[in-house]
Amino acid sequence: MINLLRASICLLATTTNGQLLGIPTAPFSLGDGRLALHDLTTLVVDSQYADIVDERGETLIPPTLLEFANTFAGDLQTLDVNITTKQGQNASHGSIFLTLGNASDYYDIAGRESSEGYTLSVSSSGVTITGASPLGVWWGTRTVLQQAILNNGSIPHGIASDTPGWVTRGMMLDAGRHYYPPDFLIEMCAYMSFFKQNTFHVHLSDNLYNNKDYTRERSLELYARFRLWSDAEELAGLNKFRNESYTKEQFEQIQSSCAARGVTILPEIEAPGHALVFVQWKPDLGLTDDLSLLNISNPDTIPTMKTVWSEFLPWFHTKTVSIGADEYTAEVNDYNIFVNAMADHIHTTSNKSTRIWGTFPPVYNDSHYINIYKNVSVQHWEFFEDNPLYDYIRNNYSVLNSDDTYYTVAKWSGSYPQKVNVSTTFIGNPSTPGGGPWYPYIFDTKNASNNPEPDEPLVLGSIVPLWNDYGANATVYSEAYYTWREGIPALADKQWGGNLTQTEFGGLLEALHPYIPGQDLERTIPSKASTILSYSFAAAYKTSTEEIEDASGNNYHGSTDCAKNEEGSLIIDSCSLKTPLSSKGRNYTLTLSFSISTLEDSTNATLITGGDSSLMLTPNITFFAGGEYFRLNSSIPIQQKLDLNIIGRGNRTFAKVDDGEEEEFSTKMGINGKWFGWGSMPFEAPLKEVGGEYAGWTGEVYGLRLLSVA
Ligand SMILES: *[C@@H]1O[C@H](CO)[C@@H](O)[C@H](O)[C@H]1NC(C)=O
Ligand SMILES: *[C@@H]1O[C@H](CO)[C@@H](O)[C@H](O)[C@H]1NC(C)=O
Ligand SMILES: *[C@@H]1O[C@H](CO)[C@@H](O)[C@H](O)[C@H]1NC(C)=O
Ligand SMILES: *[C@@H]1O[C@H](CO)[C@@H](O)[C@H](O)[C@H]1NC(C)=O
Ligand SMILES: *[C@@H]1O[C@H](CO)[C@@H](O)[C@H](O)[C@H]1NC(C)=O
Ligand SMILES: *[C@@H]1O[C@H](CO)[C@@H](O)[C@H](O)[C@H]1NC(C)=O
Ligand SMILES: *[C@@H]1O[C@H](CO)[C@@H](O)[C@H](O)[C@H]1NC(C)=O
Ligand SMILES: *[C@@H]1O[C@H](CO)[C@@H](O)[C@H](O)[C@H]1NC(C)=O
Ligand SMILES: *[C@@H]1O[C@H](CO)[C@@H](O)[C@H](O)[C@H]1NC(C)=O
Ligand SMILES: *[C@@H]1O[C@H](CO)[C@@H](O)[C@H](O)[C@H]1NC(C)=O
Ligand SMILES: *[C@@H]1O[C@H](CO)[C@@H](O)[C@H](O)[C@H]1NC(C)=O
Ligand SMILES: *[C@@H]1O[C@H](CO)[C@@H](O)[C@H](O)[C@H]1NC(C)=O
Repeated sequence: MINLLRASICLLATTTNGQLLGIPTAPFSLGDGRLALHDLTTLVVDSQYADIVDERGETLIPPTLLEFANTFAGDLQTLDVNITTKQGQNASHGSIFLTLGNASDYYDIAGRESSEGYTLSVSSSGVTITGASPLGVWWGTRTVLQQAILNNGSIPHGIASDTPGWVTRGMMLDAGRHYYPPDFLIEMCAYMSFFKQNTFHVHLSDNLYNNKDYTRERSLELYARFRLWSDAEELAGLNKFRNESYTKEQFEQIQSSCAARGVTILPEIEAPGHALVFVQWKPDLGLTDDLSLLNISNPDTIPTMKTVWSEFLPWFHTKTVSIGADEYTAEVNDYNIFVNAMADHIHTTSNKSTRIWGTFPPVYNDSHYINIYKNVSVQHWEFFEDNPLYDYIRNNYSVLNSDDTYYTVAKWSGSYPQKVNVSTTFIGNPSTPGGGPWYPYIFDTKNASNNPEPDEPLVLGSIVPLWNDYGANATVYSEAYYTWREGIPALADKQWGGNLTQTEFGGLLEALHPYIPGQDLERTIPSKASTILSYSFAAAYKTSTEEIEDASGNNYHGSTDCAKNEEGSLIIDSCSLKTPLSSKGRNYTLTLSFSISTLEDSTNATLITGGDSSLMLTPNITFFAGGEYFRLNSSIPIQQKLDLNIIGRGNRTFAKVDDGEEEEFSTKMGINGKWFGWGSMPFEAPLKEVGGEYAGWTGEVYGLRLLSVA
C-alpha cells in the first residue's frame, strides 16, 4: 500500500449525493464501512463466462472476460496489490468476483440496452463486479482502481449500478499531418481507458493547407501523408515514408493493445478533400484549381479510392470506418455520389458502416440532389457546415458530436486553443441558468434550440479532435498528450453521463494521475529527492569495474565500455556510457560535464540519445526529436572542459553552457504558406547513452547529472 499513501488526503471525500466521486462519477448507494484492497487475496473469474466475448460493441476484437481480468490483475500489481487470478463458480471470502449479468438491466440515456453497464458491489466479504458484457466488467474495474487510489487503498461498502449514457466516447488525433509512433497511441489508449472512454479515432491521411498561390509543382511537393504501409503492388508509390507509417503488424498491435483496455481504434482515410496525398500519387485525380481535392468526374477517382479501401478494410477491426469527406468545396452532387459509392463499397466488401464529417447537408426540395444514404453517420463539427439537429437528426441520420467547442490545434492557431476548453464541460449547457454540465447531446453551447432532447437516440456520443494544421515540425509527440491531459478526463466524465463539478475535478485528477496504469506519458522517474541521477568521474572515482555508481541514492547505476584516464574521467572514443533510464519529461535539468577532443562529424554528432530525443552537435547545439531537427544559434567550444545544461521547464527547453545565458529551443512553423510562426519546444531529456559507436565525436566525460527541477 505504500504507493497509495500520497493520495490519502482524499479520504472520506469520495462519495456525495448518492454518487462515487471518480472520473467519471458513478451512481452509488453507500453502505457502512470500507474494504481494504490489501485484504483481498483472489480475483475469481466466473468460469461459465471466462471465455465469453461480446459482439455488441464497436470493436471486432473484443477481449474475453478472462483477458480483461488478467489486464486488471496487472493493474492491481502496479498498485502493489498482489492477487491470484483463478476461475471459479462463485465469490469467496476476500475475493474480487467478476461475472456477467443480464444486459436488460442496463440502459443508456436513450433507454436502450447497453452492453457497457456494470454493477459493483462491495461488502466486508469482498467485491463483485457484474457486467452486461466483459467490457462492462472492465469499466467496473476502473471504478475499483480509482476508488482505491482515492481512499488510501480501500473502497467504501455499497452498490454502484452504472451505465454510460452514450455509446461513442473519445478523442480524435490527426496522425496525418504529424506522425505518432505506435507506443504513443497505445499509451494514449491506456490514459483514455482509465476514464472509461472507448473510442480513439485516428485520422490517417492529410496534407498541409494547399495555398491557392502555390504552383502546381509546389503543391505536388507539399507535406502530404498516408500513414499505412502496404507492399501491395496496386498501391506502390502511394506512401513514400515507411519510417513514419504503420505496417499491418504495427497497426494490429495498436488495435489489439487498445482493445485490451476497452478502446476501439476507429480509422479514417480522408477523401475527396484533404486528399493531396492521393493526387501526389496520381496527379490526374486532382482538380486542376485545387490539387488537394479529388476530381470525382475523373473516371479513375472512385475506382482508385475503392482499391485503397479494399486493401485496408481487412486491417480494421471495427464495425465503422471514416472516409473523412470533410471540407470538400467543389460540386456537391459529385461529393454525394462519391460518399455513397464508398459507403456501398465498404459495406459490400466488409459489412462495415461508413462515417463522414458533416459537410453538405441533405436537400429534399430539389430533385437535382442525390442525398447521402441515411445509414452513413455524420460527425458534426461546425454550424457553418450543418445544423446537426435540423439537417441530420430530423432527417433520421445518426450524428456524432465533434463540435469545435472542444477543438484544439497543436502549438498555434488563429482560431482554436492549444488545450481543451475544460471549463465548458462543466458549464456548457445553454438551457440551465448559469450553465449546467455539458453532455454529448449539446451541439450548441449558446443556443438551446439547436440541441435535441437529452435522450435523443440518434446522438451517438462525442469525439473531440486535435489537429496538426502546422505539420510535423510544430510539436513533439508528447505535446498531443499535454493538449489533452485535463481534457480527456473532463470530457470523459460528461461523455459517460457523469456529474463532476469543476471544483471536484482538479483535485480528483491530480490524486489519480500518478497511478494511471499502462502508460507513462509524462516520462516520470521515481526519485528519493530532487537529484535523480548523479555520476561523477572525478579523482575519487577509482573503481575498475564497468559499473558506474549513481550517487543520488536511487541506484540508477550505469555501465560503460569506455576506458578511463588517470583522473577517472571516461574517454569517449567509439564507446559509450549507458544509464538504466530512457527519458525524462517536464521538469528537469540535465547536465553533461565533458570536453570534446575532436568533432569528427561536425554536422551529425550525437552527445546523448534517449527514448524520445537525442542531443546533438550539428555543429549547433541541436535536439533531434519526432523525426525533426531543432537547432540553436550556438555551438560549444572544443577542447575545453564545460557543463552543458539542458533545462526542461514546462513547455519550453533551454540550453546553458556553464554559467552562461540560457538559450531557448524553438521551432519555425510554416503557417499556410503565408508566413512563419515561432513556437517553444518541450523536449524530453535523453538519458539512455552518452557517446556510442558512431557518435561522431571523441572526448572525455567528467560527470552526468539529472535533477527533477528546472
Ligand atoms: C504474489 O503472490 C504470489 C502467491 O502468494 C507469490 O508467489 C508472489 O511472489 C507474489 N508477488 C509479489 C510481487 O509479491
Ligand atoms: C461455490 O462453488 C462451489 C464449486 O466451485 C460449490 O461447491 C459451492 O457450493 C458454491 N458455493 C456457493 C455459496 O454457492
Ligand atoms: C434477462 O432478463 C430478461 C428480462 O427480464 C429475461 O427475459 C432473460 O431471460 C434474462 N436473461 C438472462 C440470461 O438471464
Ligand atoms: C493508509 O493505509 C495504511 C495501510 O493500509 C495505514 O497504515 C495508514 O494509516 C492509512 N492512512 C490513512 C490516512 O488512513
Ligand atoms: C475533372 O475530370 C474531368 C474528366 O476527366 C475533366 O473533363 C475535367 O476537366 C476535370 N476538371 C478539373 C477541374 O480538373
Ligand atoms: C506553454 O505554457 C504556458 C504556461 O503554462 C501557456 O501559457 C502556453 O499557452 C503554453 N503554450 C502552448 C503552446 O501550449
Ligand atoms: C448523474 O446525476 C444524475 C442525477 O442525479 C443521476 O441520475 C446519474 O445516475 C448520475 N450519473 C453518474 C454517472 O453519476
Ligand atoms: C524518417 O526518415 C526520414 C528520411 O531519412 C528522416 O528525415 C526522418 O527524420 C525519419 N523519421 C523519424 C520519425 O525518425
Ligand atoms: C548555427 O548557428 C549559427 C551562429 O552560430 C547561425 O548563424 C546559423 O544560422 C545556425 N544554423 C542553423 C541551421 O540554425
Ligand atoms: C515546471 O516548471 C514550470 C515553470 O516553472 C511550472 O509552472 C510547472 O508547474 C512545473 N511542472 C512540474 C511538473 O513541476
Ligand atoms: C517546418 O515546416 C514548415 C512546413 O510546414 C516549413 O515551412 C519550415 O521551414 C520548417 N521549419 C524548419 C525550421 O525547417
Ligand atoms: C547521423 O549519424 C547516425 C549515426 O551514425 C546515422 O545513423 C545517420 O544516418 C546520420 N545522419 C545523417 C543525416 O548523416
